[in-house]
Amino acid sequence: MELPYRPRRLRRREALRRLVRETHIRPDDLIYPLFVVPGTKIKDPIAAMPGMHRRSVDLVGEEVKAVRDAGIPAVLLFGLPEKKDELGSEAGVRTGVVQRAIKQIKKAAPDLLVITDVCLCGYTSHGHCGVVRQGEVDNDATLELLARVALSHAEAGADIVAPSDMMDGRVLAIREALDEQGFEMTAIMSYAVKYASGFYGPFREAAESAPQFGDRRSYQMDPANVREAFREAALDVEEGADIIMVKPALPYLDVISQLRTEIDQPLAAYQVSGEYSMIKAAAANGWLDEKTVLLESLVSIKRAGADMIITYFAKEAASIVSHNYL
Ligand code: PBG
Repeated sequence: MELPYRPRRLRRREALRRLVRETHIRPDDLIYPLFVVPGTKIKDPIAAMPGMHRRSVDLVGEEVKAVRDAGIPAVLLFGLPEKKDELGSEAGVRTGVVQRAIKQIKKAAPDLLVITDVCLCGYTSHGHCGVVRQGEVDNDATLELLARVALSHAEAGADIVAPSDMMDGRVLAIREALDEQGFEMTAIMSYAVKYASGFYGPFREAAESAPQFGDRRSYQMDPANVREAFREAALDVEEGADIIMVKPALPYLDVISQLRTEIDQPLAAYQVSGEYSMIKAAAANGWLDEKTVLLESLVSIKRAGADMIITYFAKEAASIVSHNYL
């Protein structure tokens, strides 16, 4: 049988496969999330996210040196307050955990980029991402608070602020507040396309940020929509977002791939807590091979069109690819 073309010819050896490989995972593509909590000497494992911890500020330096040494260019910081209140007041104070952690990180690893999550849900007593009035999250009243939080992060030395609240107009509000105070070079990574997802479950345990009533469907996107993603992304670009994010990642590869052709801005994808926990749980049971599946999921996200990936697997993935697995 004479076959003119045999695809298997280029799959015969690893060296050949390397030569024709279209997509690569590099440590450069990865962003590692960190959770910081008040107190000292705290390294508290997050039960639903094996391998992840909540750390006090004094222990953050050690961790970020390991991240830097793995070749990863950036961390994404989440903080928990000493005390929650209606307005999430602690999110924007100079002495907050995130603000102090930024300084600590810059001391320990000056070249590592610090991205901060800008949101109120971990800081509010009701667990919503904004100001609650008459049982609803009030969009415009929230903008001012978010701008204050973003500014406090920039003042502490954050390189990029990342609003994840999904209020309308927050990118513009934050951009204006930063520019007014001379932080025109602080970049904004917008969680522009953030779906109301069940995959955030383990994170909400980690950040103690589950809403105390209702859910987030009045501000996060409906998982059934993709055209709406174009509108969200276009708006945020117009308002001054430097990087656009899609979140979660694996269940929304079609959104990533379609957005890739719609916008010129760098595109980030967030492989969220539930995506991580599912792989960890299956691997712990011996049902999946962790290394294979985590690399396959990351390469799929890149193949779909993401330029960078926020992932709890960042350290593990960086170490695997540096040792030439993929
Ligand atoms: C805060 C925020 C959430 C995540 C990132 N920022 C939770 C949420 O919207 O409920 C989720 C991250 C993850 O699941 O890994 N608004």
